[in-house]
Amino acid sequence: MVKVAVFASGNGSNFQKLVDSQRENIHSEYKIEILITDKKDAGVLEKAEKLGISAFFINPKNYENRSFFEKDLVKILHEKQIELIALAGYMRIIGTTLLENYENKIINIHPAYLPEFPGKNGIEDAYLSKADQTGVTIHYVDSGIDTGKIIYQQRVVINRDQPLSYLEKNIHKVEHHIYPMILNKICENL
Ligand code: GRF
Repeated sequence: MVKVAVFASGNGSNFQKLVDSQRENIHSEYKIEILITDKKDAGVLEKAEKLGISAFFINPKNYENRSFFEKDLVKILHEKQIELIALAGYMRIIGTTLLENYENKIINIHPAYLPEFPGKNGIEDAYLSKADQTGVTIHYVDSGIDTGKIIYQQRVVINRDQPLSYLEKNIHKVEHHIYPMILNKICENL
């Protein structure tokens, strides 16, 4: 089983699904070992506690720069023998320290189709565009924002007779379905 760390800054619904799916699936190829967050009040912390997963809040504000911050993260990751990092709503750029230590071992889920809708407002940008479809993308992380090699994508239709919240709901439903499945596949081949 591949030891995975989830990085998250928010509510943590994807984190929850990754753990649930691992625990329900007797053939799970991965194990969510730890959660790392950069936000003290992130809802994901409560979820980790309920699930009994070790959680680390590391405050970036306590560090002079990104490299020092990430060196501490790497220290924890190595101590816990983490082999793969899964970003799930982690709102921070990944710098060279993490990228060099985990080359091709950091993945992210993006709530829109790439490369059309990068950035932190991917769902809304797609809704406000003229496109009739968006989607969900799982990709490797590189030094850009949502530019890494695409691993898997699934299309989601945009229905503008419905409010933005309807599209958000559909996107999250697809995320929760595909993230555990693709993580499992990646770990199978590691
Ligand atoms: C997800 O939509 C993910 O694609 C994006 O941030 C959101 C996180 O949601 N990067 P949650 O914290 O997993 O509920």
